[in-house]
Amino acid sequence: MKKIAIFASAGGSNFRAIYNNIQRGYISGKIVLVISNNPQCNAIIFAIKKGLEIFIVNNTRFPDTNIRDKLLLQTLLKADVELICLAGYMKLLPRGIVKEYKNRILNIHPALLPKFGGKGFYGMKVHEAVIASGIEESGVTVHLVDEEYDHGKIIAQKRIEVRPEDTAETLAKRVLEVEHNLYPKVVKVFCNDRVVWKNNHPIIEV
Ligand code: GRF
Repeated sequence: MKKIAIFASAGGSNFRAIYNNIQRGYISGKIVLVISNNPQCNAIIFAIKKGLEIFIVNNTRFPDTNIRDKLLLQTLLKADVELICLAGYMKLLPRGIVKEYKNRILNIHPALLPKFGGKGFYGMKVHEAVIASGIEESGVTVHLVDEEYDHGKIIAQKRIEVRPEDTAETLAKRVLEVEHNLYPKVVKVFCNDRVVWKNNHPIIEV
């Protein structure tokens, strides 16, 4: 059983998708920590309801960046975390964590990276930009996390058609459904140590 930490800042529907897939035995993992900068978000409310360990990390609680980053890493190590899943986490991870957990941090993004990614491309902004561009397909990307937003190596992508009648909202809804399907599949592969590296790129079957 891989010990998983979830990082989430918002609704937490991807977190719930991972949680539910662990519950039904599809993913052989255990969520040992749920981390957020936002103590009031739905992800934290859900975590508390399920009796999961939570850790709130933000400027208000820990104004000193160095202390904050150190504490966060210590908390992950103390909980013996082996895999980190970002699920709608709005902050950059501290360098120390990216280094310690190299190739063991996943993120999901609601578009086909490298397009429509990077700083400023979050939430509905991504889908608005996709619609405004007139592009005919969008999708979902799961990637490894490095020091930049939406930048690490791509692990898996799923394409979906952008329909002529789509608005950012209708597109977001369909993309999110694909996210809930793709992310647990990737997490499962990581939990089973089924990632194959070819020419320094992660190859997985989903
Ligand atoms: C998802 O669209 C994900 O791709 C992005 O943030 C959103 C989080 O949604 N990184 P939720 O909190 O999992 O519902």
